Amino acid sequence: MSRIAYVNGRYLPLGRATVHIEDRGYQFADGVYEVCLIRNGHFVDEALHMARLSRSLGELKIRWPVIPNALAVIAREIVLRNGIRDGLLYIQITRGVAPRNHPFPSGNVTPTLVLMARSTDLAAGDRQAEEGVAVVTRPDIRWQRVDIKTVSLLPNVLAKQSAKEEGAVEAWLVDRDGFITEGSSTNAWIVSSDGVLMTRKASDGILRGVTRTVVFEMLDGSDIRFEERRFTVDEALAAREAFLTSAGNLVMPVISIDRKPIGGGKPGPIATELRRLFLDHAKASALRYTPQATNMSD
Ligand code: PDD
Repeated sequence: MSRIAYVNGRYLPLGRATVHIEDRGYQFADGVYEVCLIRNGHFVDEALHMARLSRSLGELKIRWPVIPNALAVIAREIVLRNGIRDGLLYIQITRGVAPRNHPFPSGNVTPTLVLMARSTDLAAGDRQAEEGVAVVTRPDIRWQRVDIKTVSLLPNVLAKQSAKEEGAVEAWLVDRDGFITEGSSTNAWIVSSDGVLMTRKASDGILRGVTRTVVFEMLDGSDIRFEERRFTVDEALAAREAFLTSAGNLVMPVISIDRKPIGGGKPGPIATELRRLFLDHAKASALRYTPQATNMSD
């Protein structure tokens, strides 16, 4: 089956799905995106992704290219046309096409809307989670509005590539004060040497991950000791456990940081339990969403 993308009102084979070279996404990275997990043909936490997309658009003053309910319909169509059971949905909205000039274009420029979806290998993800993954630390050289999910990802790309070259799957980014912010495309968590689960505050130089938000809900009412606070590289190196979260990785145990084993080099019990709970949540949440829930003025 050839892959189909949606571009500005048309469903096209990937090879013919193109945008204009004066698209502001291409020229200036002037756009936002979302990545949403698909399980059993349904979206997981779709309302949270739509709410974050709405916020990202609002922060950059980019108009909705279509109403949110229409976007929800297009997203379903893309999943069907690509025959996806388990995978990822990608949504990108840029400010649109205009002669290259830094200020926002004047007049009624229509934002560019692109959707794609691809299948992922569930079993491969589970195998990786059983083994755990390696991360390395790198300086956080990003801009100060990483709370907006923009396509401006060059520092993230460079950090991820440098991690890959060292045989790691993720780079944990470190701020000027020696505290870990988050991964290049994931949120970072540790269980400290005295057993406290921690991740950085969403208001403090990170993206508010949807998976992170859902893990918070799972912690509510559990007996896991939890603090929403930043931690240093040294605290991470001394941690009992570490893990990362994202739509693509769900909850993924980390077994080494900068080549130093964490938790004896094996996935820890809290990460393993949270992954199991997230998998249950994914199954249930895929069935719950109603498109009417999203408000355009969010
Ligand atoms: N990345 N932090 C950053 C910088 C991210 O890019 C992402 C998501 C996350 C986790 O967010 P969520 O739990 O909502 O996926 C944290 C996506 C998956 C990506 O860029 O592919």
